[in-house]
Amino acid sequence: MDFSFLLDYKNFFINGTQITVLLAFFAVLFGIGIGIVLAMFKISNNKFLKGIASVYIEFIRGTPLLVQLFIIYYGLPYLGVEFPDFPLLGQNVGDFMAGVIAMSINSGAYVAEIFRAGIQAVDKGQMEAARSLGMPYLMSMKKIILPQAFKNILPALGNEFIVVIKESAIVSIIGIHDLMYNADTVRGNTYKPFEPLIVAAVIYFIITFTLSKFIGLLEKRMDTA
Ligand code: ARG
Repeated sequence: MDFSFLLDYKNFFINGTQITVLLAFFAVLFGIGIGIVLAMFKISNNKFLKGIASVYIEFIRGTPLLVQLFIIYYGLPYLGVEFPDFPLLGQNVGDFMAGVIAMSINSGAYVAEIFRAGIQAVDKGQMEAARSLGMPYLMSMKKIILPQAFKNILPALGNEFIVVIKESAIVSIIGIHDLMYNADTVRGNTYKPFEPLIVAAVIYFIITFTLSKFIGLLEKRMDTA
């Protein structure tokens, strides 16, 4: 094996890593927004909202991310929703947006379940106690339930970030210059079909392993709190 190409091509990996992390960050951020709303729908008593959330979650979790990505990337322009078409830091902004949208929609379904499970894991006596003290529902939720639910939710969200970082390699298919895409470019440019993939794998692993250690630390801290 020969990794001397790294001297000339290291920027491909650095830039690709930046795009990958940025994409995953936005996807989880917007995913959290979508997920919180869906989780609230799901635990509400309103049958209609419950239904909407259930259909969304089941449909997104029951279809491949690749298909969802293609629907957003090819489908939206077909329906007349054009993505912007200009580069920023060497990355086409419209492609990046399509990637973020698809991954956010996808992540939102999983995050919804993280929030719902986290909230429902809090003993229901907590809500009953808060309500019996005269606290309104939303206040009990905010002051009593959510702070306790946080303990279950935070580590799971960290996990979701790891999953999204790994799954984001799929966006290389639509030409986003993420880590996977750039590794592939290096393969072509250097006529080295193998080594660039090892470099990409090692970088993905460093990111996810660091994150998972960090989550472990966080979990330990919250245990003793
Ligand atoms: N590989 C899965 C699929 O194609 C994506 C899973 C995404 N998971 C997540 N927690 N966001 O459907």
